[in-house]
Amino acid sequence: MRLAGEDGPSLAPVITIDGPSGSGKGTISRAVARALGWHFLDSGALYRGVGVAALRAGIDLADASALAQLALNADIRFEDRIDSEPHVWLGSDDISDAIRTEEAGQAASKVAAQPAVRAALLARQQAFQQPPGLVADGRDMGTIVFPQAELKVFLTASAAERARRRHKQLSEKGIRAILPALLREIEERDLRDRTRSVAPLVPAHDAHTIDSTSQSIDDVVATVLVWAAPLKR
Ligand code: DC
Repeated sequence: MRLAGEDGPSLAPVITIDGPSGSGKGTISRAVARALGWHFLDSGALYRGVGVAALRAGIDLADASALAQLALNADIRFEDRIDSEPHVWLGSDDISDAIRTEEAGQAASKVAAQPAVRAALLARQQAFQQPPGLVADGRDMGTIVFPQAELKVFLTASAAERARRRHKQLSEKGIRAILPALLREIEERDLRDRTRSVAPLVPAHDAHTIDSTSQSIDDVVATVLVWAAPLKR
């Protein structure tokens, strides 16, 4: 288990990989972190954890102050596993699978639109910046959470391609899903993430944009690793 964030401030280098869901950023960020031997922050899992905690506590997803309290106080813990999605715990409950459902994704997108929730999670995310380095995956890693990051990547892919990838991922887990419904959900979530007033999904002005619609994961990882080579110590 690698628990980052407990040794105080550091000047460890940061690579941010932002983009919409299904752009491949989770897989790519993890592969880059593994190749470099760096820590990995899946910030979406943190928002999903708050979404699941809110659903379980019966909190109205529009109740900003209750959600902010929850984001500050919820006992959400990560076991960062470099080879798979992180294990996430809410108190003594393993919510690793619960946070990956569409319902949790929608809840995460709603709680993430609350400025007070984002503020409550900021320090928690920044604490992952630890030697030898951090790869941070999310929506606002390069714009808000790590604006000083040495390398910023913004990953895109067409909504149709992202829905197709999500459909394949769900089928592989034995979960039935309807492609047009997935596409509609992705488009709804994109719209909410891009147009929210706080930390909208936009590329940082100094980000490199990669469109992964017709590129393999390996090709994108190779490109990022070429850009990251000067950061290795
Ligand atoms: O990357 P993901 O699908 O696991 O993210 C779930 C939701 O959390 C997504 O709809 C947007 C939100 N999110 C965010 O607003 N900021 C982040 N840094 C990461 C995720």
